[in-house]
Amino acid sequence: FVTMGWLIATRSARGAAETDDRPKDVVAAAIVDGGRVLLAQRAHPADLAGKWELPGGRVESGETHAAALAREIREELGAEVEAGDGVGKPVTLPNGLVLHAYRAHLRGGTPVALEHLDMQWFTADELRRLDLDDVVPADRDWIPELCVVLDEA
Ligand code: CDP
Repeated sequence: FVTMGWLIATRSARGAAETDDRPKDVVAAAIVDGGRVLLAQRAHPADLAGKWELPGGRVESGETHAAALAREIREELGAEVEAGDGVGKPVTLPNGLVLHAYRAHLRGGTPVALEHLDMQWFTADELRRLDLDDVVPADRDWIPELCVVLDEA
């Protein structure tokens, strides 16, 4: 039993180490079309559920940011995008993850909220009127930058 306990402890320690080895980067897509940017409403976790974010997710080992962005948008919205310029500054979360936002150009398909509660296209004026309490905390700093992008679009 002692051996069994040791085996289990070793395996879970290794599991945790593997989790820690994953890149700390998260990529998020600012898909702009017709002067509007697409925001999606998170379904989980509970404290973020219902809040708006730029759709995206964690970069996998060996993956470029552009490839991760395309994969996440394919998984979450069923559309093909090509990553463009960065938007705003990277944001570091309390858990050490670092979020990077990029312009994302639609190359195929029509975005549909496959994993989010909802999605909505926002004009710059609608973004400015958005209650920041309804936005995922890490994404709040990007709102002014997104307005600039939309004003220039
Ligand atoms: O789908 P995956 O698990 O790769 O990623 P996620 O759960 O969507 O995002 C990973 C982390 O980044 C979570 O802590 C999210 O809350 C955070 N995130 C964020 O703050 N803002 C975004 N626009 C996207 C993700």
